[in-house]
This record gives sequence, structure tokens and C-alpha cells, in this order.
Amino acid sequence: MRLWTNPASPFARKVRIVALETKLAPQIEEIVIAVSPVKPHADLRQENPLVKIPALATDDVGTLYDSAVICEYLDSKAGGGLFPPPGPARWEALRLHALGDGLLEAAVLRRYETAVRPQALQWSEWMDGQRLKIEGGLDAMEAACGQWGGGFTIGQITAACVLGYLDFRFATEAWRPSRPKLTAWFERLSARPSVAATQPS
Ligand code: BEZ
Repeated sequence: MRLWTNPASPFARKVRIVALETKLAPQIEEIVIAVSPVKPHADLRQENPLVKIPALATDDVGTLYDSAVICEYLDSKAGGGLFPPPGPARWEALRLHALGDGLLEAAVLRRYETAVRPQALQWSEWMDGQRLKIEGGLDAMEAACGQWGGGFTIGQITAACVLGYLDFRFATEAWRPSRPKLTAWFERLSARPSVAATQPS
């Protein structure tokens, strides 16, 4: 399998954590590329018409995207576990996965707004709207994380990628002071080998 990726992408990080957790990582060749919303990568475009990472070229079902689909594919190939079977635990995991993906979309859009968009075109109300989503999503995680226990589903993997990305790209915006439970959870989880090995850079 070939994974189109970038070490700064939190969506690609989700896939890389799943690859390590499922022990499929040795079967995956990583193709590291630079990505830009305004300069589409020509080779990636052949694999994914949305020209987004991550994309995973497989031997059996062609190239898969987006990160949610790739993660479920790898998990099912390895016999499952990160996506719980049908029942309440599955809905809990999928809701947290969706919450985390929404937070990541808002955070990456904010990053592009300042790093890519010309300053004269930047829109502060739009930035505030994205920030509100991030604050609300983090508060929802703070309220929920007491029930996470020692579990490590696709939901918690995504939550770890959110917090790692905020520390990486928005280090001056302190999320920890009002969220002690999430802070303690992230501290514990950061020592997990798959999480430690995929720190954004
Ligand atoms: C970033 O540099 O923040 C980034 C890179 C790839 C995808 C998303 C974000």
C-alpha cells in the first residue's frame, strides 16, 4: 500500500496512528508531499480528484480517501477493534470521530487563512466563527473525556490528533487552563508509542 501524506497533516496523522496500532505500518510505503490549497499536486490529483491528503493506494480496492474511510479500511483489514462493532460504543466512537474531524477542519482552515491567504483578503469574523467551533468542540471533549477510561478507539485517536495539531499550529492559544480533564488525558496518551511516533513536524 502507498500512503500520500505530510508530517504536519493531522488527518494523515490519524491514518499513521491507525497503521501503527493495527501493525499494518510495515506494509505501507509513505509518499511525503507538500500540499497547498492553491497549488494542487499533479501526481496526487491522479489518485484523489479532491487533491487532498491522506490518500491510500491499495492492492484490492484502488485508492481510498478521506482519512475516515482509510482508517476504517485499515482497521477492518486488521480484524477490527478501533471501530467498535454495532452498538452504543460504536456510536460513541463515531460521534467523537466526527467531532474531532470537525475541529480539525476548522483548525486547518484557520491555519490556511493566515498562512496562505493574502492579508488583505483575510476575514476576521470568519476566523472568529472557526474559533468558536474549536472552543465548543474542546468543551464537549472536556465534558466527555471522563468516560473515555483507558479506551483507544478511532474517536480518541482523532481527539489526540486535534490536541496535537492545536499545540503544533496554535501554541499561543492555550486550550488547557479551562480543560483539566482533557489536559490530563492528553498527557497520559502522549506516551503511547503510536502517538509519540507521529508528532506533527
Ligand atoms: C499544516 O501545515 O498545518 C497542514 C499540512 C497539511 C495538511 C493540513 C495542515
